[in-house]
Amino acid sequence: MPPKTYKYKLVSGEDFGKAALETLQEAFDKARTYPLVVLPTGNTPKPLYAAWRQTRAIPYDFRYVNLDQYRGIKFSDPRSYPLEIKREVLDPLNQRLDEELIFDGNSDPKNQADKVETALKIEQGIDICILGIGQNGHIGFNEPYSEFNSRTRSVQLTHNTIEANKRHCEAHGGVPKDALTLGLGTIMEAKKIILLSNKPEITVKALHGRIMSKIPASILQRHPDVTVVGTPMVSAQLRLAR
Ligand code: PGA
Repeated sequence: MPPKTYKYKLVSGEDFGKAALETLQEAFDKARTYPLVVLPTGNTPKPLYAAWRQTRAIPYDFRYVNLDQYRGIKFSDPRSYPLEIKREVLDPLNQRLDEELIFDGNSDPKNQADKVETALKIEQGIDICILGIGQNGHIGFNEPYSEFNSRTRSVQLTHNTIEANKRHCEAHGGVPKDALTLGLGTIMEAKKIILLSNKPEITVKALHGRIMSKIPASILQRHPDVTVVGTPMVSAQLRLAR
């Protein structure tokens, strides 16, 4: 029998940040105390983080889990993803950063990947995993053809991702070619996944097309609890595809 697939829940709203914040609030309401929460970086989640900081609508403490980080850079580097989350979310919301749950891009990559996997096991797994999606269908830095059961590891970035991320890195020494990322298997063990998307075409392909490693996000069709928060354009396209 082929593995089961599930229907995701779709949330949309004219105000993307507000819709994402309400979705996240609902997930926090259902999660255990002091949940483990994966927070992505990039342009897509910015409206969520802005709404979260402004409204402080979520009254819970949480533990931040790093989704991905470039290799060969320090935590304090302007390209550093956990630094961005510290500035945009953790500091304004008075949340602590746990070294065990973030990648040090400057240390041995295997040790770093194992450290985070071990911490996730000890802490009994990710409660809420918020994700963006890349133009090529990546989630985290799980690039096309990543194994669906992959664990947290060091990866090489594709040309497509390096080009897409130039806008964030150009002024600071360019886009590193290697990174650490939570694996697809690791992400799929999260109890709840919230996919934020402002990219209609790849999101429709990932959620309504064939499940294949060429589009890593397509594995989300096999997760039992996915909520997609789409911009109005994304939501309209997904509704047509349903
Ligand atoms: P973006 O990146 O939010 O900056 O578009 C998403 C991603 O590459 O995962």
